Amino acid sequence: MSEPFEFDGRVAVITGAASGFGRAFAQQAAALGMKLVLADVDQGLLDETVNALREGGTQVIGVRTDVRDAAQVDALAKAALDTYGKVHLLFNNAGVGTGGFVWESSAKDWDWVFGVNVMGVANGVRSFTPAMLTQGERAHIVNTASVAGLLSPPAMGVYNASKHAVVSLTETLYHDLKNVTDKVSCSLLCPAFVSTGIANAGRSRPDDLRNDAPPTRSQQAADLQLQRAVRSGKLTPGDVAKATFDAVREGRFYILTHPQILPSVKLRHEDIETLRNPTDPLSLKPEVRQAPQ
Ligand SMILES: NC(=O)c1ccc[n+]([C@@H]2O[C@H](COP(=O)([O-])OP(=O)(O)OC[C@H]3O[C@@H](n4cnc5c(N)ncnc54)[C@H](O)[C@@H]3O)[C@@H](O)[C@H]2O)c1
Repeated sequence: MSEPFEFDGRVAVITGAASGFGRAFAQQAAALGMKLVLADVDQGLLDETVNALREGGTQVIGVRTDVRDAAQVDALAKAALDTYGKVHLLFNNAGVGTGGFVWESSAKDWDWVFGVNVMGVANGVRSFTPAMLTQGERAHIVNTASVAGLLSPPAMGVYNASKHAVVSLTETLYHDLKNVTDKVSCSLLCPAFVSTGIANAGRSRPDDLRNDAPPTRSQQAADLQLQRAVRSGKLTPGDVAKATFDAVREGRFYILTHPQILPSVKLRHEDIETLRNPTDPLSLKPEVRQAPQ
C-alpha cells in the first residue's frame, strides 16, 4: 500500500458524527469530496450536521444509530451499502466517559461506557470489515481511542479501561488485516484533551443506565478535572481531523495529536520494563489535577 489513500468520490461512515471530532471528520471528509454516512444517537444534532453539509453540496445521509446495539450498527452498514454500494473509510468514533475512583463506579457506569466505547468499536469492525474486504478496493478504519488508552491516569478507571481495550482491539485488527489483505488497513487515534462535548457526555446517557445515587466526591472532583483539562486544550477538533486524514493518506497507524504526552507513555513503558511501581501520569501535568476533597 505505497500509494497515498484517495478520498475524492469515496464513501466515509462516521459514528458520533453530530459533535466534536466526529463532526470535524465529516467536515474534513466533505471538503475532500467524499460521500458521507453520518451516525449518532443524538437525532437533533445529527439532522443539523447533515443539513449543513448538504447545503454545502455534499452527498450525505444521516442514520440515527446507537453503536452499543449490534443490530443498529448492522443496519447502519446496510444503509451505507444500499445508498452508495461501497464503504472506503470508517470512523468508529462515538465515545463517552465517567470519572471517579474505580470502586465507586457503578455497574451502570461500566455498562454504559463499555457499551459505547468498546462494543461500539467492536460492532463497527464486525459490521463493516467483511464488505470492505470483498469490495476489492482500498479501505481504511480509524478507531478513536485516547491517550487514556496508553496511560492510566487516576480517577478515570472505567474510561481508561475502555480505551485500553480500543488500543488492543485496533492493534490486533492491524495484524489480522495484514494477514489477509494489502488493500484494507486501520489507524488508531489517541488524542489528549480537546474542547468538544466530551465533558458533558452524560447528555446522551440512556435513562435506564443513569445512576440513582448522587455523585461521590471523587466523581465530582474527576468531573471538575475533566472540564478544566478539556478547556485547557489548545488544538481544535478541526486540527485533530486534519492530523487524522493526513495519517490515513500516508497509511500511518498511530495518530498521536499531542506528542507532549510521549514522555508519560515512555515513563509507563519504563515502569513495566523495569518492574517499577506505576508512576502517576498526571505528575507530569499538575495543572489538570483536581484532587478529590
Ligand atoms: N475531546 C477530548 O478531549 C477527547 C480526547 C481523547 C479521546 N476522545 C474521544 O473522541 C471521541 C469523540 O468524542 P468527542 O470528544 O468529539 O465528544 P463529543 O461529546 O463532542 O462527541 C461524541 C458524540 O458521540 C455521540 N454518542 C454518544 N453515545 C453514542 C452512542 N451510543 N451511539 C452513537 N453515538 C453516540 C454523542 O451524541 C456525540 O455526538 C470519543 O471516543 C472520545 O472518547 C476525546
